[in-house]
Amino acid sequence: MEQKYVVKGGNPLVGEVVIGGAKNAALPVLAAAVMTDGCCHIDNMPNVRDINVLLQAMEGIGAGINRINDNEVVITGKGIKPEGIVDNEFIRKIRASYYLIGALLGKYKKAQVVLPGGCAIGARPIDQHIKGFEALGAKVTIEHGMIKAEADHLVGSHIYMDVVSVGATINIMMAASLADGNTVIENAAKEPHVVDVANFLNCMGADIRGAGTDVIRINGKKAFGNCEYSIIPDQIEAGTFMTAAAVTKGDITVKNVIPKHLESISAKLTEIGAEVTEFDDAVRVVATKRLKPTQIKTLPYPGFPTDMQPQMAITLALSEGISMITESIFENRFRYVDELTRMGAKIQVEGNTALITGVEKYTGAEVSAPDLRAGAALVIAGLAADGITQVDSIGFIHRGYERFEEKLQGLGGQIQLVETEKELQKFILQVS
Ligand code: UD1
Repeated sequence: MEQKYVVKGGNPLVGEVVIGGAKNAALPVLAAAVMTDGCCHIDNMPNVRDINVLLQAMEGIGAGINRINDNEVVITGKGIKPEGIVDNEFIRKIRASYYLIGALLGKYKKAQVVLPGGCAIGARPIDQHIKGFEALGAKVTIEHGMIKAEADHLVGSHIYMDVVSVGATINIMMAASLADGNTVIENAAKEPHVVDVANFLNCMGADIRGAGTDVIRINGKKAFGNCEYSIIPDQIEAGTFMTAAAVTKGDITVKNVIPKHLESISAKLTEIGAEVTEFDDAVRVVATKRLKPTQIKTLPYPGFPTDMQPQMAITLALSEGISMITESIFENRFRYVDELTRMGAKIQVEGNTALITGVEKYTGAEVSAPDLRAGAALVIAGLAADGITQVDSIGFIHRGYERFEEKLQGLGGQIQLVETEKELQKFILQVS
């Protein structure tokens, strides 16, 4: 039997949970670490599947990877063979493989990486990345499922991004930080992880200003040195547990977070009637009564994050009244709706809009995780449902959540990862 989560719903989740490092910051930070021949000591790294796949691929082209423990690593890019092709069995499946293009192009002026995959949440073009590399003087070709970038000289440039892209902003920032001269990126993404990568590059010796605003200015350097760095907390993992409190009418203190990064989520939860209290590095969410409906549109930061859309949807689908969610970043991000419908939700999808009519309760069902965030959302819906829910395809969830079931168990959630029919039946017997 394939691994799955089995969940018995009904308990409010109560207690404290400690959030790990941000996956979407850690991926580009780790990739950027190969840009120095010195040593980068990185901690607060999440021990999730996407990170482990990237580290293996980096090792495959000669990077030195010394895992100190689950959440700490020392990386050196000294042994890298720049003509090496970034590939392995799994790297094609992760989006962030493309960060090695910017990192290697900056350092060696050439890179060869298999084309990225990632969650199937819509068409995910890389035209803005390519536009940026070309503006810096690189020749970019795509052949046999591989992207190749090469430059005689990488030179600073003025780049206007046609769409706000996290990946393209970070990739161009990396390459430009070791180009000759100055680069300006306009209409840059402002996500906290863009700022984190800029801080990391600056810690290695880059000169990047303006990250976190629309305009990023980079003064190219010749080479980088050593660095010690701690990854920022994961905004989306935190947001997921915040909604878990709201959905299960619980009381969760989410620790080791930067509350500022969670503002759009806190604001929506407050608007629908949850109590959100901010502390220096924690947020407490309490829900005691049935929540109210609202309207949400996903937008680039500081707007409401698309990666929190499914978790908010499962919250609103139990709220009283009609809510509307508009997904404006990815066009295929409602694939969980069919699954949630099997649990009793009433959701109608029309194009990029979901019309949600709140129901009083979910009923446990067998569902399948369609992607990373929606997978986590379905598990939490299960924790709020009457009876038993089974969630399969949980490999998606492990791409981005560390010790997910353990953290939920710590909050009183009745959840177990099972691998055999016997384990499944045993859990069901125990909880019934
Ligand atoms: C990153 C995150 C992902 C999150 C997303 C938006 C990682 C590994 N993944 O993805 O979890 O959902 O940001 O916050 O960090 N686009 C183009 N051309 C490009 C690049 C992007 O048209 O060259 C479009 C995309 O199709 C999408 C939008 O721009 O509609 C935003 O994408 P982008 O910010 O690049 O997302 P990712 O970096 O892929």
